[in-house]
Amino acid sequence: MKVIAGPTSTVLGRKVAELLNSGVVDVEQRTFPDGGSYVRLAAPVAGDEAIVVQTLSRPQDTSIMQLLQIISAAKRFGATKVVAVVPYFAYARQDKAFLEGEAVTCMLLSGLIESAGAQAFVTVEAHSRDSMGYFTIPAANVCAAPAISGKLREMGLEGASVIAPDQGALERARSLAKMLGGESFSVKKHRDRVTGKVVVTESDFDVSGKKAVIYDDIISTGGTIVETAKVVKKQNPARIVVACVHALLVGDALERIFAAGAERVFSTDTLPSKTDTVSVAPLIAEELSRSA
Ligand code: R5P
Repeated sequence: MKVIAGPTSTVLGRKVAELLNSGVVDVEQRTFPDGGSYVRLAAPVAGDEAIVVQTLSRPQDTSIMQLLQIISAAKRFGATKVVAVVPYFAYARQDKAFLEGEAVTCMLLSGLIESAGAQAFVTVEAHSRDSMGYFTIPAANVCAAPAISGKLREMGLEGASVIAPDQGALERARSLAKMLGGESFSVKKHRDRVTGKVVVTESDFDVSGKKAVIYDDIISTGGTIVETAKVVKKQNPARIVVACVHALLVGDALERIFAAGAERVFSTDTLPSKTDTVSVAPLIAEELSRSA
């Protein structure tokens, strides 16, 4: 087995390889003068199972093109099996057409990964169950809660109430709350599909004087977490900590989340970021060993 550490996941790829006790293949990459992406595997993979680790960080479209080329090259140059490990599966939020005339990018990307030559797919905390449903190859969705709950316990947050920033995220909050031995709740969120503006309204819960954790899969602009933190803060909880899996942290998202009342923000390393203090490498390695 060889782990191919894609240009967007050089650190995480190495951690996974170390845990699997496997060799690492680096990827040479550059940009053609016309803006196109070039990649080349820096070592042979013929006769080996190739685990391609490439997250879809910004600029996502470049990361995708690199991923497809790496999968294709591994397949063409004799890998016995190609497994695509895509810790952050960009475009998965668009798992259906919300407005007439839109493409279902999640379906489109799943098809591209398969047609490039991937024979299995692994991601971490895909946006929804639906977002995994477009693959016809085995597709695993690794739950990040064991890693997140470990960090929260270290921070003295056992028994904390876990708040989901929308009802779709409640199942995720429930799993985390169960591991922490606390309760889970959800606020109500409405996002304007055209402007992207988020409005959060309080739901039926009370965290006054308690430890509160706001937990979401993605922080992009921060709008969802900021509005949720404002609603939670009004109840005067003892602590407000924000945790997420994939921290895109566009613009001043982090600063606005602190300004809204969070004492601490952390995420996993599915995306390299200022907040990526929890590694999902052990969870990915476990999944790969289980499905080998
Ligand atoms: C949406 O349903 C996701 O779970 C996140 O809540 C959303 O992607 C966060 O985006 P933003 O940080 O831009 O509000």
